[in-house]
Amino acid sequence: MAQQNFLELVRKRTSVRSYSAQPIEQEKLDYVMESVRLAPSACNNQPWSFIIIKDKERLAQLAETYPRDWFRAAPACIVACGNHTEAWKRPHDGKDHCDIDVSIAVTHLTLAAAEQGLGTCWVCHFDAKRCSEIFNLPAHIEPVALIPIGYPKDDEVFINNVKNRKSSIIKTEKT
Ligand SMILES: Cc1cc2nc3c(=O)[nH]c(=O)nc-3n(C[C@H](O)[C@H](O)[C@H](O)COP(=O)(O)O)c2cc1C
Repeated sequence: MAQQNFLELVRKRTSVRSYSAQPIEQEKLDYVMESVRLAPSACNNQPWSFIIIKDKERLAQLAETYPRDWFRAAPACIVACGNHTEAWKRPHDGKDHCDIDVSIAVTHLTLAAAEQGLGTCWVCHFDAKRCSEIFNLPAHIEPVALIPIGYPKDDEVFINNVKNRKSSIIKTEKT
């Protein structure tokens, strides 16, 4: 694989909604999860856990929380969980930084996966309550996002993806 600079990698990552059944090599999964482990978090509390599901029956069960054929077809899925007990709360107003921390870790996940030729897609439009039941999660552990992961059916998805983004996000204050 050609060496990518960061911006090329950011351009490459895209939401993949069509997966091949090809299993993911364990080394690649380890690589992706190491990049997750190294993510920064508020006060370095690392208020997260990641459940990796490869078992077909468990994947089918998980798909009950997000019933889409493309989601069901992924060979693996990672449930990104936030721990609200461990997460840092800002003393001024009590703001819970759990979601922010998990989101940074998931961003590492999706970028590292893309670098390895693996597709991912953030999924938040799922039944979180049902997901907690399936995995027997205690009340302080929140399933924040589901991340299906696997080889895209068509590799071209990494090349032909169109980034539909606003043109300017920079607002410079007058000096
Ligand atoms: C927090 C978050 C939640 C998302 N939830 C879903 C989802 O439930 N289902 C889905 O198909 N895509 C979901 N997406 C993917 C977005 O639709 C996608 O990132 C956006 O359209 C930009 O496309 P790109 O990822 O290909 O650059 C989500 C993305 C984010 C960041």
